Amino acid sequence: MDNEISNVKHDGRSPKEKYVHSVFESIAGKYDMMNDILSFRRHKAWRKFTMNRMNMRQGDTAIDLCCGTCDWTISMAKASGTGEIVGLDFSEGMLEVGRGKVAKEGLQDHIRLVQGNAMSLPFADNQFDYATIGFGLRNVPDYMQVLREMKRVVKPGGMVVCLELSKPTWQPFKFLYYFYFEKLLPLLGKMFAKRYEQYKWLPESLKLFPGREELAEAFRQTGLQEVQAFSLTGGIAALHIGIKENLDV
Ligand SMILES: C[S@@+](CC[C@H](N)C(=O)[O-])C[C@H]1O[C@@H](n2cnc3c(N)ncnc32)[C@H](O)[C@@H]1O
Repeated sequence: MDNEISNVKHDGRSPKEKYVHSVFESIAGKYDMMNDILSFRRHKAWRKFTMNRMNMRQGDTAIDLCCGTCDWTISMAKASGTGEIVGLDFSEGMLEVGRGKVAKEGLQDHIRLVQGNAMSLPFADNQFDYATIGFGLRNVPDYMQVLREMKRVVKPGGMVVCLELSKPTWQPFKFLYYFYFEKLLPLLGKMFAKRYEQYKWLPESLKLFPGREELAEAFRQTGLQEVQAFSLTGGIAALHIGIKENLDV
C-alpha cells in the first residue's frame, strides 16, 4: 500500500475506505488465527477486561461497529442474555466468518448482522444501551464522525466504548514494540497468512491515529461524559469509555 491514502471522496467511498475494505476482504479467512499470533493472544485479555468494565445487564441492547468476525458481538450477546445485539461491518467476507461463529454458538436469533458503514449508521437516534467499536476506529476515514454516530444511536445514559491499539510511551518498551510492530509483524503476516502488504497496513493505520490522552479528549469533544481511558499491556492497546448525557436524572 502506498502512503498516499487520503480521505478525498470520489464515488461515495473515500480511498481509505476502499483500501481498508479490500484489506479485510482479503484476510477475512485468516483474521482470527492472525489475531492470536500477532497479539500473542493478548487481545483475549483486553476483551475480557473490557467486558468487565462494561458491566452489561440482562436485556441490554448493543451495536458493535466494525464487528468483523464477531468476537465482541458474541461476548455481548452472552452477557445480555435477551437484548438484541447488532453487529455492523462493511466487509461481507468478515461478516461471513462471523455468521458462522454466531451460528455455532446458537446465537443467530439474538444477534443481527448488518452490512453497513460505520460512518453513517442505518439506525435511529437513542436506540441502544451500548455502542462499541473494537480495533475499528483506527480504520475509518474520520474517527470523530464515527464517535458522533456512536453517541447518536445510544440512549441517554448509554455507553460508547472503544477498544483499540494505542501508542506505548515508555521509551525502552516503545523501541522494542515498534521494531516488532513495524518490521516483524508484516513478515509474520506474510509467513502465516501469505499477506505482506495487508499486514503492513496495521502499523500504517496507527501512525495517524491519536494516542490515549488525545482519544479521551476526542470523546469529550463529541460531548461524551465521565470519560475513562485505560492503558492495556504497557499502552499497546487502550480502552476508552464515555457516557451520553441523560437529562432525565
Ligand atoms: C481489525 S478488524 C476488527 C474486527 C472486530 N471488531 C474485532 O474486534 O476483532 C476491523 C473491522 O472494521 C471493518 N471496517 C473498517 N472500516 C469500516 C467502515 N467504515 N464501516 C464498517 N466497517 C468497517 C473491517 O471490515 C474489519 O472487519
